[in-house]
Amino acid sequence: MKSFYIETFGCQMNAHDSEKVVGTLLERGYEQVEEPAGADLVLYNTCSIRDKAEQKVFSRLQQFKKESKGKVFGVLGCVAQQEGERIFERAPHVSLVCGSASYTRLPELLVQIERGDRRVTGLSLDTEETFETPLTRRDNPHRAYITIIEGCDKSCAYCVVPFTRGPERSRTGASIIEEARQLASMGYTEIQLLGQNVNSYLDPSPEGWNLARLLREIARVPGLRRVRFTTSHPRDFGRDIIEAIDENPVLCNHVHLPVQSGADSVLARMQRLYTRSDYMRRIDWMKNSPRQIAITTDIIVGFPGETEDDFKQTLALLDEVEYDSLFSFKYSKRPNTPALALDEHLSEDEKGARLTILQEKQRAIQIRRNADLVGRTEEAMIEGFNKATGQWIGRTAQNRTLNFTLPDGLPVPAPGRYMPVLVTRAGANSLAGEAVRTA
Ligand code: 5AD
Ligand code: SF4
Repeated sequence: MKSFYIETFGCQMNAHDSEKVVGTLLERGYEQVEEPAGADLVLYNTCSIRDKAEQKVFSRLQQFKKESKGKVFGVLGCVAQQEGERIFERAPHVSLVCGSASYTRLPELLVQIERGDRRVTGLSLDTEETFETPLTRRDNPHRAYITIIEGCDKSCAYCVVPFTRGPERSRTGASIIEEARQLASMGYTEIQLLGQNVNSYLDPSPEGWNLARLLREIARVPGLRRVRFTTSHPRDFGRDIIEAIDENPVLCNHVHLPVQSGADSVLARMQRLYTRSDYMRRIDWMKNSPRQIAITTDIIVGFPGETEDDFKQTLALLDEVEYDSLFSFKYSKRPNTPALALDEHLSEDEKGARLTILQEKQRAIQIRRNADLVGRTEEAMIEGFNKATGQWIGRTAQNRTLNFTLPDGLPVPAPGRYMPVLVTRAGANSLAGEAVRTA
């Protein structure tokens, strides 16, 4: 039997793609191993969103170059798509290069590899297909990812994704509901719907569901308790999504809505297709929801031409929105992207200084917001047990980590179950509490 090792970098889409790739390999009789040393086939599912992410795969390939004899190396995902056959030049021991838009061809590519072909590629972006497979091997037994749309038709000036994942392709609503039903019948209670831009979801069947309609339908699948979706683009984010959340408790009260910058001039140069006030209108919908929707975002600091005043506007936006959490990044130059042609690139030091200021501000906001939750009882989905701290690890519907202890006499919880927990302490990045007795 042949064995394989796979390491995954990047976003949840990549993590889920790997689950599908693993399923496909197991089906062909491969066995998965935990270390590259013992594998016949070593795969890296790569990310190229920032330069640092891209460099990781090349350092991994370097690391194993000497021990490459008798092994087949494959590069999948976004770096594969972006660099294509250049990967063979940079790392001659690689035999397979395949981007995510070509994963439907994987079984065929594997046959070529097994035949001993030295250079095998799947690099076409010219596809209308989505990678749907009944062979997905999910890592988590309680929370499952479902892809609803692949690719991206936007052209944000900094972003490689349109080049690495190709044009938008939505799955049919019926196939998504069918997968959700199957997962619920297998015991999954939480589902996360995935896409680079889920708000552009458009059912290609005559039903023509949009995202809000799809969310309402998924919320009705018996057995599901939490449904999340990511990631959203503000331009396409309709009020009907908030209405669906308001009316369906199964839809989690958490929305990730990347803003990238608080300054209109930067948003325009980023080609984000919305203004700060368009964005704030969407925030107002959420703030006015009776469900107390947690809001999180992504921010890029130091985009070319970002002035001190632009940056201050981003800081002011953080005060105005009071995000529950955020991911922040220094702008990183990416191949093929329109932003490369812009003037006034900032130095690494300037970007670093802004990132620190932004992160400190957000930390203070989170400390304040999380402190407001002390004394409340939140439902936690149990993710595991931390031996070092003696606490159970839980997650709230709003996607906060809530670590907790058990009062004497309460039965030991099982991962994947839900428990009410009284929040007793709050930090910047997590909550702590004690499980409460029900009835
Ligand atoms: N540089 C820095 N951050 C980036 N992101 C996307 N492209 C870049 C880039 N070139 C960030 C955005 C996006 C998140 C997934 O990564 O904030 O929302
Ligand atoms: Fe990285 Fe973006 Fe590709 Fe995800 S889609 S793996 S974040 S480059």
